[in-house]
Amino acid sequence: MSIKAKDTPENYAHEDIRRFEKEYVLHSWCVQNQYDAPVVVGGKASSFWDMDGNTYLDFSSQAMCNSLGHQHPKVVEAIKHQADELCFVQGTWAVKSRALLAKKLSEVAPKNLSKTFFTTSGAESNENAIKFARMFTGKNKIITRYRSYHGASAGAISLSGDPRRWAAEPGIPGIVRQWTVIATVALLGWNTLLVIFVALNISLKSLCSRAQIILQHWKSSLSWAAMASWFLPTNICPDCARYAAKTAYC
Ligand SMILES: Cc1ncc(COP(=O)(O)O)c(C=O)c1O
Repeated sequence: MSIKAKDTPENYAHEDIRRFEKEYVLHSWCVQNQYDAPVVVGGKASSFWDMDGNTYLDFSSQAMCNSLGHQHPKVVEAIKHQADELCFVQGTWAVKSRALLAKKLSEVAPKNLSKTFFTTSGAESNENAIKFARMFTGKNKIITRYRSYHGASAGAISLSGDPRRWAAEPGIPGIVRQWTVIATVALLGWNTLLVIFVALNISLKSLCSRAQIILQHWKSSLSWAAMASWFLPTNICPDCARYAAKTAYC
């Protein structure tokens, strides 16, 4: 069957794409009938731009995971190279790109974090982190921060103190939420996070070791800096760290 000319992507105007987003896409965490976002059509380094030519400085690195910037030639090349070589391999087989990336990650992470479990989202990695901790310790309780968000899946949303959890309740059992120093961060800015992080970590790590609790760090934007061995000595390092990043092995 031949494809009609109108059905090829380049034959649609930006206004069509904006309308299709509204009509056919279910968007997360927003009032559906009020959704009307501009269409993003390009990006370079720390900026991206929309269909009307408005340029945005990407302070949030999209969803905190585009940390290498938009369209870096080495990233584009690495993606093309992998697509040419092999697009998909099921998880039980060994494959060069995954093995080399895991090896690289173990070289920058503290010594006790030598293995990487690859997932496709933050929520999924948190679901697995909950399972790992429960299987390893045989204990049930998970302690999280009250003012937090950990993803939209059943287990991850149960950890959150954020109102987005309410509609998903009763959620999974065994969750304990605690207040923390988040107000200080709001007052003094994100730079304080590193100082607070190290201070908190020293006391948390020793508390967890004494009570045989697994310490996990789940911060997408911070974990890279916080867990890298040049910031955090191994003896106060988490037992498991979760991070989101566009990492190309270039
Ligand atoms: C700290 C934290 N954990 C988990 C998530 C969920 O990640 P994802 O949307 O990839 O499932 C987010 C996303 O905003 C996050 O900020």
